[in-house]
Amino acid sequence: MSSLRIAVVGAGLAGVSAASALREDDHQVFVFDKSRGCGGRLSSKRTPMGGFDLGAQYFTARDSRFRHALQHWLDSGWVAEWTPRLYCYDDTGLHESPDDQQRFVGLPGMSALPRQLLADVTLTSQTHIERLHPVEPGQWMLEDKTGVTHGPFDRVVVAVPAPQAVVLLEPAPTLQQTVAQISMSPTWTLAVAFDQPLATSVDACFVRGGPLDWVSRNSSKPGRHGSDSWVVHSTPAWAADHLEASPESVTAHLLEALSEVLGTALPEPACTHVHRWLLARPDDKRNWGALAAPELGLYVCGDWCLDGRVENAWLSGQQTARTLV
Ligand code: FAD
Ligand code: NAI
Repeated sequence: MSSLRIAVVGAGLAGVSAASALREDDHQVFVFDKSRGCGGRLSSKRTPMGGFDLGAQYFTARDSRFRHALQHWLDSGWVAEWTPRLYCYDDTGLHESPDDQQRFVGLPGMSALPRQLLADVTLTSQTHIERLHPVEPGQWMLEDKTGVTHGPFDRVVVAVPAPQAVVLLEPAPTLQQTVAQISMSPTWTLAVAFDQPLATSVDACFVRGGPLDWVSRNSSKPGRHGSDSWVVHSTPAWAADHLEASPESVTAHLLEALSEVLGTALPEPACTHVHRWLLARPDDKRNWGALAAPELGLYVCGDWCLDGRVENAWLSGQQTARTLV
């Protein structure tokens, strides 16, 4: 196939995965994202107290194709294995919960992986694509929120969370209806750093019951520098109940819950940061892999085509690239 001009809307791992595969296939790929950089829910925040992973905390690798790519990322130093002292907190309290599962993190933060994968691709950031316009047969223009148009492109890949994809898929009503079936739930993230390390051996904890879902000692991950830093995630239900709560109130609630899980009073934090993920995870699993209206040159991918995990976002992007070529 001769070289195509392909637009990818969304620079999360699904979009990055599709873009890098299509670029390797010698197509001209142009990625657009509404945020300042790439990575989407693989997000890392730099602070004077060190970096924090605000979204995905780690990833596991079960599919052989993903494991193959992972080996290259390990060899390149983009990711490393994380072996936390794992705990579980439930109605019996806090207890160790070791397992044999391998878990991996980006270096020095989770956003490093999409950044590395996108190195050879043109990224136009801070560009919120609002509409896709079919122009000449088989050609597309992209209109952003400021009214500027980009293109023309031979193909468009939409790689954004399902509720955001629905808006863009107006020119493909059947595809739009399919994607509209997907709902996604929120999560509140609290990142907190302390001047002195907390007196606990917990590196990570799966939480069952109460407002929290997950606790991790961010600074226990490889390649992280700085002070004793922690990331906690609320459950989707707690986030839904506190969607409009103030950052101060969310911080206070989640710090209290962290103290309860760890079974220790917390000192005054050196810094805190909260982030609200409105579309954190899909509510249901699908086995779509990726979706497409090939007759229109329109392709759709994202974790929600499978299940809300890093590995699935990458697999969905790969499937889109395979279908497109
Ligand atoms: P996204 O990462 O959401 O990327 C979509 C991109 O599209 C974003 O960059 C967004 O800015 C952009 N965008 C949206 N609309 C537009 C538009 N109109 N124009 C331009 N750009 C647009 N997974 C794991 O495997 N392990 C974990 O530990 C884990 N923990 C998680 C914790 C949290 C709090 C969250 C939120 C997610 C977690 N996940 C975890 C899930 C994982 O992060 C996702 O499955 C994966 O990152 C999704 O990638 P994606 O490319 O499909 O979507
Ligand atoms: P995984 O295999 O480590 O965990 C999957 C699930 O198994 C965990 O959520 C936990 O409930 C359970 N589990 C695993 N090991 C355990 C142990 N040692 N002790 C007790 N329970 C254990 O990772 P996988 O399958 O790659 O899942 C990704 C993770 O990402 C999940 O934890 C999921 O909850 C999280 N996630 C969070 C989102 C959010 O919005 N907060 C969004 C999407 C994923």
